[in-house]
Amino acid sequence: MLLKGECTAAVRLVYDLPSLRLVLGLSRERNCIEGRAGRLEAVVQLDIVSADVEESLLGEALASILLLKPVCIEGDKNVYDELLARYVARLFREEVSRLKRLFHKSYERLQVADIYPVVARMARLQRIYPWLRTVYGNALRRGDYYTWLRGVVQDVALHELGASGVWLPAKLVDSGPGQKLRLVQQLGGAPKVAQLLGNIASQVSLSLLQAIPQTLLIESISRKPHPLTRDPLLLVRLDAARIATKLIRFEDQLYAITGVKRLLRSVKLSRKGIIRSVRTVEAGGFRPAVVKRYIDITAVKWLAASIASLPLPRPRLRALARLNAEYYYNRLLEERGFNVPQPLLIDPRRRQAAYSYIEGVDLVAILQRESLPEPYREAGRLLARLHSSGVALWDANPSNFVYDGKRLYVVDLEQAREINGIQDAAWDVAVACYYSLLYAPHNGPERARMIASGYLEAGGNREVLLEAAKHKYMVPFLAAVPPNVLEKTRRVILAAASSGEN
Ligand SMILES: Nc1ncnc2c1ncn2[C@@H]1O[C@H](COP(=O)(O)OP(=O)(O)O)[C@@H](O)[C@H]1O
Ligand SMILES: [Mg+2]
Repeated sequence: MLLKGECTAAVRLVYDLPSLRLVLGLSRERNCIEGRAGRLEAVVQLDIVSADVEESLLGEALASILLLKPVCIEGDKNVYDELLARYVARLFREEVSRLKRLFHKSYERLQVADIYPVVARMARLQRIYPWLRTVYGNALRRGDYYTWLRGVVQDVALHELGASGVWLPAKLVDSGPGQKLRLVQQLGGAPKVAQLLGNIASQVSLSLLQAIPQTLLIESISRKPHPLTRDPLLLVRLDAARIATKLIRFEDQLYAITGVKRLLRSVKLSRKGIIRSVRTVEAGGFRPAVVKRYIDITAVKWLAASIASLPLPRPRLRALARLNAEYYYNRLLEERGFNVPQPLLIDPRRRQAAYSYIEGVDLVAILQRESLPEPYREAGRLLARLHSSGVALWDANPSNFVYDGKRLYVVDLEQAREINGIQDAAWDVAVACYYSLLYAPHNGPERARMIASGYLEAGGNREVLLEAAKHKYMVPFLAAVPPNVLEKTRRVILAAASSGEN
């Protein structure tokens, strides 16, 4: 339905879309829409456009146009500037908080390009309104569009956030002022007003949709969107690793990073039937990386799954949360001087990540050579140092420590956490002591003694050992280890706590 008539607009924005010249007028009084082939003039009440900008009253059908650079602006430019500013500020709030859901804890280490929020919203909008694919695609292919967009974004959001530069920390956006005008509510304290507004609004958007040339629609549907709108995460980065793009296969990106051109062999690490989620990338004996796939914990990890229901520190079960925790604690520990692998490629959407390969053997493999290996004492020391820095591993099982002949690395941080009580620390000690009994019950109690004495030697708290010697920490292992061996090991921990022997 086209409404005709004389309308005065406070400001007129002229946009050159492919095969359509669109004039969008913002009026303080009324709406009128006039169209003929190749040209559409819509004068729309400022209140309606505002409500679309703030709360998607028209499904952002009008707001989506504002993301383009007008070819000319006639009238009161301030009205336009203020409107655009509010839209962009909203996109910052919404798009960046979406990232928070994808990156969980690692969000703290995330940076976004200044234009990310706008591009991310373009990606979303062009899925709803297919003609925007061509329109946005054309814009994003022009250098002057970025100059314009960057100007808008810097003026608006970064002013508020007090940040400058192209990359800004995501958490800064999050803590930025989040004023939320409830426009529809304001106008429609009386629901009738809101309804009236809704009616007019739907007429406006209907007319707009009718005016979109068929050629533009057809072209858009057959065309691939611009890469940035196909994957806006190209505009997001972590402090120390690449984020995988969904435009290229994970393996291909990893080859580009590690320099190993072709994956010659991928070895799935497994030991004694315990399923591992890690593969090594290998070429001619050279191992640049391990690739870890995160799947939601079900029965695969019997220990984690069973402990989830016991009165013990809880494991994280969700794949995405574990992937993000692993990256977050890997970086935290590296900064605090612990030995950890280097993260290479993080892919939260496909739930996998690549880390540098540590040339060495894990503490379980060492057990195959000798049953009282010295690195077990070092594991005790390492746990004490971790605990003094406020971090617990939760999964301190010996396969998660890799020894390179000199240093002991922690390789599995998906369950790591800030210590929130003595239980977290005690559980680490208990797991370190009891877990190896699964592989080698022989000399198990002596290994526990090494761990406990290493723990005290490096300043570990005696109370933690006392706590770890409680029966409840032994319970999860009863299914797999003979009770007498467990009990003997438990007493060793208790004795170490009481006597402080080394
Ligand atoms: N960066 C690494 N370098 C060398 N070996 C590793 C690395 N990461 C893991 N591993 C080996 O793979 C095994 C499984 O990896 P881990 O991260 O512990 O996954 P899972 O969740 O399956 O326990 C480890 O026990 C260790 O032996
Ligand atoms: Mg592990």
